[in-house]
Amino acid sequence: MPRKVRKAVFPVAGMGTRFLPATKSIPKEILTLVDRPLIQYAIDEARAAGITEFIFVTSRGKSALEDYFDRAPELEASLRQKNKTALLERLEPTNMDSGAIAYVRQHEALGLGHAVWCARRLIGNEPFAVLLPDDVIQADHSCLAQMVEAYEKTGGNMVAAMEVAPERTSSYGVLDVSGGSGRVVDVKGMVEKPAPGTAPSNLAVIGRYILTPQVLRNLNRMTLGAGGEIQLTDAIAQEIEANNDVHGFRFSGQRYDCGSKAGFLQATVAFGLQHDELRDEFQIYLNDLVAQPHAAE
Ligand code: G1P
Repeated sequence: MPRKVRKAVFPVAGMGTRFLPATKSIPKEILTLVDRPLIQYAIDEARAAGITEFIFVTSRGKSALEDYFDRAPELEASLRQKNKTALLERLEPTNMDSGAIAYVRQHEALGLGHAVWCARRLIGNEPFAVLLPDDVIQADHSCLAQMVEAYEKTGGNMVAAMEVAPERTSSYGVLDVSGGSGRVVDVKGMVEKPAPGTAPSNLAVIGRYILTPQVLRNLNRMTLGAGGEIQLTDAIAQEIEANNDVHGFRFSGQRYDCGSKAGFLQATVAFGLQHDELRDEFQIYLNDLVAQPHAAE
């Protein structure tokens, strides 16, 4: 059985320019999806998969993220004094055990592969997960947990995969698949952001990975790839060339691209409709809106 996946890397160094001016003074990962910051969804998913060590790759201007995962003693004391137990419970998932969370800076925006490489000393010589918080996955069973369960049987490297429209493949890492059935497929090639019309398939990589430490050693080569950046996809593809296993995993769940405004809005609606306190009222509002789109005029 392969070694247990205990550590997860969260690359959060991006500037979030697509959300300016909202992201002028707060990190994109703190933007609220219904009632939780984006990053909380990725943390909850990782926890549900058994992750116990959380590594953030940050950059300048991300201190709000560090504060978010710190204790808030004054706030907690005041809530306790007022017997606001329900509110105190809501803070619980934001608390991290001492030493369970670590931050490392990416000093220059050199690509996703470089961001993950920045965490190499904290990862050490063991398999690790990577979660891109922009990809929010709504699922009954945490997407990463699904992957960990599959990985326990396959070992090797594993990337989450999803079919996308052929005209969208140039926005993703794309898999060339050689076989395998069901949820786990064997990958014989991977290409980052293929030019339109050149993608090997329409099976795209989604931001969940379980990787062997050899991928970090591949990243040492600092090879520049698509967009002149050091790409994680390329470092994983090098494992295929070295005859090591790379699997694609077709997860069950709905993925939202919260790196785009349209995706963020779609996720807001989907999670709003699933929220215990909001579901009924929001459903009525949406029904009315669809029935009478010009009601406000
Ligand atoms: C990154 C990866 C890409 C993957 C995508 C999924 O790209 O490089 O392989 O398909 O995430 O969201 P980005 O969206 O950061 O450009």
